[in-house]
Amino acid sequence: MKGRRPRPLDDGDSGEVRVSGHLSWAKLKKRSSVKINRQLSGTIIPMAIISNCTASIIKDAALALKEGHLVAFPTETVYGLGADATNEKAVARIYEVKGRPKDHPLIVHISSMELLDKWASEIPDYAIKIARQFWPGPMTLVLPRTTIAEDFITGGQDTVAIRVPSHALANQLLKEFESLGGYGIAAPSANRFGKVSPTNSEAVEEELGQFLLESDQILDGGQSQIGIESTIIDCTGNTPIVLRPGSVTIEIIENLFGEKIGESDSRRRDIKIPGSFDTHYSPNAHVLLNGITSAGDGFIALEEIPTPTGAIRLASPKDNLDYAKVLYSALRLADSKGIKTVSVVTPVQQGIGLAINNRLVKASKNL
Ligand code: TXA
Ligand code: MG
Repeated sequence: MKGRRPRPLDDGDSGEVRVSGHLSWAKLKKRSSVKINRQLSGTIIPMAIISNCTASIIKDAALALKEGHLVAFPTETVYGLGADATNEKAVARIYEVKGRPKDHPLIVHISSMELLDKWASEIPDYAIKIARQFWPGPMTLVLPRTTIAEDFITGGQDTVAIRVPSHALANQLLKEFESLGGYGIAAPSANRFGKVSPTNSEAVEEELGQFLLESDQILDGGQSQIGIESTIIDCTGNTPIVLRPGSVTIEIIENLFGEKIGESDSRRRDIKIPGSFDTHYSPNAHVLLNGITSAGDGFIALEEIPTPTGAIRLASPKDNLDYAKVLYSALRLADSKGIKTVSVVTPVQQGIGLAINNRLVKASKNL
């Protein structure tokens, strides 16, 4: 077992606990009758993380999704908590498990651009151009919805958010799911609402393990390579507008079109965009941006910036790409060490630095 920690007893079920370890879904099912006396053990063994995801494990996971269970899976940005995007009951469980407000819309994941018009209507040429350039990858398009995108996905809005992830495991899972007749997997970041997105399977277990059922799954696909959530682009007007900055940067998109594009949410104030709530991407620790570091504070900065005396170094990224990749793990490390304040030297507001600053500013509002 890697990265497991005992979790305190919770109340309200039979005393039967989940068997953890790197077992296949099939083996897990077989072993699910194993009982451990909670009174004796005093702890619950956490939700099983399924590692070494072979083709047959991925098939089983797709089947579990089709049957209405939840499957957390890796993407290149962050880990997602997946459910069949056409199954209202399964999607309702995403909201329950995350503790997320019901009107906050979800991203639907599909395996390729070919399935885009199942979910989206009136797709402008510029959106096709963006999709061709950046899919599969860390980019989400917001488009007018078709009838398949029901209110329980869009939060009642007339638009739907769609993404084709590039992580091999995510893509394989989507293909298997679609081969079973599925149309798309709804997957928000696999964290409790307002908290830090998970970038590895242990962080998913830590965030959601106690809210998941034995029939749900957490697939392990290693560390997310990008580390912050996808760029969200509103494609409902005459020009694209970036609603959430990410690693597909505004500069990169402008290069594609050879002209300036919008970068605010001002076009559609009715959209529930990420961070429209006060706390988002927030650890328990207070995040202090470019302030005075005190002894005992956690400290995050590029590697060339020395650690202030008495501070606890949490990450030393070598550049901004690395900064994005390690940021959320560093914030989690602060919480696991019981650190009260994390002092952060923010990167320059350029390229992916813009997205990092966007997340850090929101994380810092958890006073
Ligand atoms: O990288 C990502 O995008 C990850 C991975 C798992 O794909 N997903 C993710 O999902 O970050 P989530 O739910 O944590 O954030 C998606 C955001 C939500 O905050 C929501 O406000 C926004 O996308 N969103 C979803 N549908 C939308 C829509 N129709 N219009 C505007 N924003 C929308
Ligand atoms: Mg999220």
